[in-house]
Amino acid sequence: MPLAAMTIGEAIKQATLQLEGGSLISARVEAERIVGEALGFERADLYLYSEQELTAGAQAFITVAVAERLGGRPLQYILGHQCFRHLDLVCRENVLIPRPETELLVEEVLAGLDDLRTLGVPLVLDIGSGTGAISLSIAYEYSQARVVATDISDEAVALTRENAARNGLLDRVTVAQGDLFDGLQDYRGCVDIVVSNPPYIKTSDLDGLQGEVRREPRLALDGGEDGLDFYRVIIKEAPAFLKPGGLLFFEIGFDQAADIVAICEKSGSFKDVEVRKDYLENDRIIKARRI
Ligand SMILES: C[S@@+](CC[C@H](N)C(=O)[O-])C[C@H]1O[C@@H](n2cnc3c(N)ncnc32)[C@H](O)[C@@H]1O
Repeated sequence: MPLAAMTIGEAIKQATLQLEGGSLISARVEAERIVGEALGFERADLYLYSEQELTAGAQAFITVAVAERLGGRPLQYILGHQCFRHLDLVCRENVLIPRPETELLVEEVLAGLDDLRTLGVPLVLDIGSGTGAISLSIAYEYSQARVVATDISDEAVALTRENAARNGLLDRVTVAQGDLFDGLQDYRGCVDIVVSNPPYIKTSDLDGLQGEVRREPRLALDGGEDGLDFYRVIIKEAPAFLKPGGLLFFEIGFDQAADIVAICEKSGSFKDVEVRKDYLENDRIIKARRI
């Protein structure tokens, strides 16, 4: 039997109530995103045309999306994309959903590029690219830069490439697959900035994570016994790739700054090690300069 036609306004209201019933904190915002996606509408259009009736197809999309959301599937995987700074990125299961705090890391890298004032084309290396959020934003927002994005995961590499192509960035972004710096020998001594948002959660904390985060790939989250495995290796290996005076940027866990600063300083390869906070005043970014 065909579903009774519903207006856009009614659909938002109903989806909000259903999502609230599932104790989702941002039920209204999520309902708007789902209904908007079903229609290909921006948020403002939903209210401009709130009396318009939904097609059966749109109504079916909303029903399925709300049910999946109530089942704990992250919204970005349901909708298949997520805005990150100026880009709309395809998101898929098995690849980490880009987070708002990572936008700050990009901002710091862009400021770092300005600060370096490299002669010629600056080269940025993004380790663990995921969807390509960091690397592609840098390429998009700093049109002189060339970026190498690398990840160990097949799905992440494919998605970075797909997002680079969708955003017309493949001419300045090289996508590689490998374990950290593996396969990047050609770039030794040529890199202006190394940036990474590596997996940084302690292995023992993974099972206690909120249900939704547990739907994201373990490979993108597991930072080893103390959460610092990737920082240790990158701090050790990055100096061979960075030019003298080049910059290293990390996203970090809120309680990891002191340890990572100590590893950087002890390495003897970095100076001017700085910690930056996120919007919630948590330590979130490390910046260091290669000696
Ligand atoms: C926290 S996610 C960050 C993804 C993306 N850069 C972002 O900020 O949204 C970490 C990424 O590191 C990748 N990764 C894990 N182990 C790696 C390794 N040994 N070498 C390269 N990349 C790795 C994961 O596949 C994942 O995409």
